[in-house]
Amino acid sequence: MTALTPLRNIPQGNIFRKGDVFVLFGELFGRGYANGLINEARNAGMTIIGITVGRRDENNVLRALTDEELATAEANLGGRIINVPLMAGFDLDAPTGELTPTDLIADMTLKGWQDDKLDWAHIEKCRAVGVNRFKDSVAQVMGELEGMIADGSNVFFAHTMAGGIPKVKVFLAIANRIYKGRGDRFMSTRALLDSDLGKLILMNFDEVTANTFQYLIEGSAAIRNRLEATGGQIRYTAYGYHGTEILLDGEYQWQTYTSYTQGQAKMRLERVAEAAWAQGIKATVYNCPEIRTNSSDIFVGVELSLFPLLIALKKEGGGAWADEQWQACRDLLEEGTSLEDLLQKIDAYNANDVMKSFRNYPAWPMDNSAELANLMIGTSEEITQMHKDRKSLVTDLLSALVLEGTGPLMFHETSNPAAPVLWLNHDIIAKQLNSLHG
Ligand SMILES: NC(=O)c1ccc[n+]([C@@H]2O[C@H](COP(=O)([O-])OP(=O)(O)OC[C@H]3O[C@@H](n4cnc5c(N)ncnc54)[C@H](O)[C@@H]3O)[C@@H](O)[C@H]2O)c1
Repeated sequence: MTALTPLRNIPQGNIFRKGDVFVLFGELFGRGYANGLINEARNAGMTIIGITVGRRDENNVLRALTDEELATAEANLGGRIINVPLMAGFDLDAPTGELTPTDLIADMTLKGWQDDKLDWAHIEKCRAVGVNRFKDSVAQVMGELEGMIADGSNVFFAHTMAGGIPKVKVFLAIANRIYKGRGDRFMSTRALLDSDLGKLILMNFDEVTANTFQYLIEGSAAIRNRLEATGGQIRYTAYGYHGTEILLDGEYQWQTYTSYTQGQAKMRLERVAEAAWAQGIKATVYNCPEIRTNSSDIFVGVELSLFPLLIALKKEGGGAWADEQWQACRDLLEEGTSLEDLLQKIDAYNANDVMKSFRNYPAWPMDNSAELANLMIGTSEEITQMHKDRKSLVTDLLSALVLEGTGPLMFHETSNPAAPVLWLNHDIIAKQLNSLHG
């Protein structure tokens, strides 16, 4: 188990400057965490380079971006993109002419999936094909990068990859139950994890979310050696999740979103950073708070831990700017509903024994339960209904603030990182935001 190692002070260092290179290892989406880091890299005058995961054609064959797609992606990133598809995972890989894991599970049904068995020797062959494909593509990307990075410059590799849910109908239905279902529609995470389908998905999570960080570190060894030999420095970061300390009863306490089936993969990611660190490579996983993004919207209730950030902003010396954030949140609520009512609902939710029983760091990631789903998904729905517009929520605003706060924290800490695994909790994020806007 990783010791809980929060970042407690705002880091000030910065080794990155104009001419240095920032490489985003994952695609950039509008609300994604990576935006926080990109803003810092841009402000520091760094050259920004991105990659693509590629796209699938109508036969599911992985392809590079078309010229038009590439131009759009580069405009969105504000930098060049190396157009070699870096889709991770092996759900659509197989030895030539054989069935992919997705083919194997495509016919599973909601009735039978828990008893359906998979051919693990075949899955292993598919995994090997997927891993080799990804590593070969990393080698190509690094080959192109070589020519784009001058001797003696500093490089910041930011890994954002997470995912691995195979696209099959049956899993859409299962995911709707596991992450969104309550009452009759509830399904336990344990049912999934005990099934062959679940085991396959966990293997794919490991590949996408954790092993890609390893392949990045290994694949960039030649660049690392060259730059270090010429006076440059190289850093690696990745986004982790392992619960977050938020303000509960006036104190920062660790809590977590539950039904986090990716938890094992995120702990594997931490171990990748620790192993690299032990070899003298500066790789840091930043365990970040729950926010709403394209990737997390499936986890209904994940956003509930965001609300106490409003109180943290005040506790950490927030002034007029923090008051403005409170007011902006008030403006999103329906007439006759106060932010105080909403925060009281969150207090009651967090004080509930069901929620308390999940605040168990050593046992993370725990299986969900019907009681948890009822409470969490029910509270999420009630709070959404307190808004004027379901499409404009307090948690949109708070997610953007958290993302903004993590940018400078990660960027500056990475100049001289204290450890391979660091938590960015609500205390330090509130401090950073107040200091940016004070
Ligand atoms: N949203 C949260 O609450 C939260 C909390 C802590 C950590 N994180 C982590 O932050 C990182 C960025 O996520 P985000 O929430 O900002 O969402 P996002 O959707 O913006 O980013 C997801 C990233 O994963 C990449 N990706 C997805 N499937 C992939 C695949 N098969 N192969 C290669 N890359 C793939 C995408 O290209 C993208 O860069 C992830 O590692 C995520 O786990 C998110």
